[in-house]
Amino acid sequence: MKIQRLCTRRQAVMDALISEAKSRIASGQELNCYVDHLLSEVKSLTEQQITMLLWEPIIETSDTTLVTTEWAVYELAKDPMRQDRLFQEIQSVCGSNKFTEENIAQVPYLGGVFHETLRKYSPAPIVPLRFAHEDTEIGGYFIPAGSEIAINIYGCNMDKKQWENPEEWQPERFLDGQNDPADLYKTMAFGAGKRVCAGSLQASLIACTAIGRLVQEFKWNLREGEEESVDTVGLTTHKLNPFHAIIRPRPRN
Ligand code: HEM
Repeated sequence: MKIQRLCTRRQAVMDALISEAKSRIASGQELNCYVDHLLSEVKSLTEQQITMLLWEPIIETSDTTLVTTEWAVYELAKDPMRQDRLFQEIQSVCGSNKFTEENIAQVPYLGGVFHETLRKYSPAPIVPLRFAHEDTEIGGYFIPAGSEIAINIYGCNMDKKQWENPEEWQPERFLDGQNDPADLYKTMAFGAGKRVCAGSLQASLIACTAIGRLVQEFKWNLREGEEESVDTVGLTTHKLNPFHAIIRPRPRN
């Protein structure tokens, strides 16, 4: 019942986006986005395929990036020393200028914050299923043809044999490699192989820019009584309780 209700709501949102794009195209306006191109160029798709092709990037892009940003800022609000370290690094690079995408690589600690958040709160804690077409072996386990395999990223990232004190949020874990591109694979937060996330770079640019700006502009503290929060898994790893913070604008230089 709940799923049916959600499907109906999803269809209504997709219909609205599609009909808006159709009237834009009909009025002769320049094609300017993904849905415009889907509708105008790909005549062979059914309405349902268009709906799904539109829906897929919406859930894959917005929710995942949003929860990553929220968990990162939550952890920083809980931890004034680490928040201050990040703020100082940002200020030493930006001074009185706004932190932008171009500054990300100059602030290694921000990379640590991003990857450590993906480790502790992987937005997609279970990688989409893989189907074994033939008998194979992974990590010493025999996988017979026809099996479907789910990889528990959350379990891997909380494995005490792989990570010291995995329940603790420590961005310093990722500082050795200084924004090493291989960090993306250490947590497997973006999956791996042929179907690896197509938007990992974009996700990292958007989330890191957002986190950097939020910390540059405001000092974050948890509201009293908000000390701990647990996660809950829907399609992505959401906070069970809303994040209540007290934010104070930082003085301008
Ligand atoms: C922190 C943010 C994100 C996380 C954690 C994330 C994670 C993932 C994961 C785990 C998968 C499945 C990979 C696999 O099966 O091996 C995936 C697939 C995908 N993601 Fe992301 N994603 C994020 C943001 C984005 C963004 C911003 C975009 C687009 C700009 C995007 C586009 C996609 C697409 C198109 C796929 C399907 C790839 C395929 O099936 O071939 N994702 N993502």
